[in-house]
Amino acid sequence: MTTEPEIRKGLAGVVVDYTAISKVNPETNSLLYRGYPVQELAASCSFEEVAYLLWNGELPNAEQLAAFAADERSQRSLDDAVKRVIDELPLTAHPMDVVRTAVSVIGALDPTWADASPEGNLTKSVSLFAKLPAIVAYDQRRRRGLDLVEPDAELGYSANFLAMTFGEVPSKVVVDAFDVSMILYAEHSFNASTFTARVVTSTLADLYSAVVAAIGALKGPLHGGANEAVMHIFDEIGSADRAEEWLDAALAEKRKIMGFGHRVYKNGDSRVPTMKAALDTLIVEYDAPELGELYTALDDAMQNRKAIKPNLDYPSGPAYRLIGFDTEMFTPLFVASRVTGWTAHIMEQLASNALIRPLSLYNGVPERHLE
Ligand code: ACO
Repeated sequence: MTTEPEIRKGLAGVVVDYTAISKVNPETNSLLYRGYPVQELAASCSFEEVAYLLWNGELPNAEQLAAFAADERSQRSLDDAVKRVIDELPLTAHPMDVVRTAVSVIGALDPTWADASPEGNLTKSVSLFAKLPAIVAYDQRRRRGLDLVEPDAELGYSANFLAMTFGEVPSKVVVDAFDVSMILYAEHSFNASTFTARVVTSTLADLYSAVVAAIGALKGPLHGGANEAVMHIFDEIGSADRAEEWLDAALAEKRKIMGFGHRVYKNGDSRVPTMKAALDTLIVEYDAPELGELYTALDDAMQNRKAIKPNLDYPSGPAYRLIGFDTEMFTPLFVASRVTGWTAHIMEQLASNALIRPLSLYNGVPERHLE
């Protein structure tokens, strides 16, 4: 008698490859990028330095950082063809569809798209990293009937991103909190969107195809879409005093509470304390204590009822709301950050590629014949 192979739904617990990019340790509740705890990077480094680290394996020295920053700053503008395509998309399109389409157009316009050498892919990665803020900012502004703001090469990544979105550089507190969120979202081993990018790369398709596919995977509310969904929940609840009652009703309807739970971390997401601290600075900056109260009330109620801890999307959603982004722009912000991790994984996959092609167990009708 043959034994049936074990099926691991959702590949839960399956180890499919090595990675040297990040280490998630649920036991110690830690996340390392290239060996460095992400909390330390968020406290001491800029997002540009972290992007460089993810791609190159080491933090840049002053000279390397200056060269990298100059390169990134010189590539922030969008080609007119990309702007025209964005202009053609209706405002009913979700911003994730706009980002996905824009990246696809950038790929189609790049005559070097097929150059999959490490240098070629690094060049494309820096280009996407530099242009994604322009795509997200442009889409946010056109939804408000505002014109594109051109990038400012005098500004760092996050200050420029926010200036392109809101027309001016906000306070240092705001820029710093936003930069921290970008660092925390940048990389998280074999999550669904990164794995998607690696699957596409494993067929030897180009970097742009892999990133477009990853954006598709990130859109779902079980993954990146949760940061938006958190704010829909906050809006539904309204105020802290209604959190418990709302949660009981939602759980009775068997709803998943967005921003809570994680496939890997079962005792809390390692990134939450750092992002919550950044959110707290924004709550003070924008004098929005009621948002902090609602955050705490829903978290407390969730711990009492289900003991399921918040994930990074729980503090980042309210942070992006306070900074001034429309709710549907939150997942595109995640894209702007995670493109660094995705592209690092694309290059790592190619360095020792094997086609990713799992098996399945057939449970359809038994063999039958026409007649
Ligand atoms: N709300 C209510 N119940 C939950 C939640 C939640 N957010 N998360 C898990 N559970 C419950 C499940 O209902 C299940 O209960 P059961 O055993 O009684 O059926 C149990 O906890 C295990 O949950 P699974 O969904 O099987 O765990 P899995 O590892 O597959 O899911 C996931 C992880 C998808 C993140 C899940 O926790 C979830 O749907 N959370 C909400 C969406 C979310 O916040 N996603 C963001 C992920 S992190 C990121 O992208 C930065």
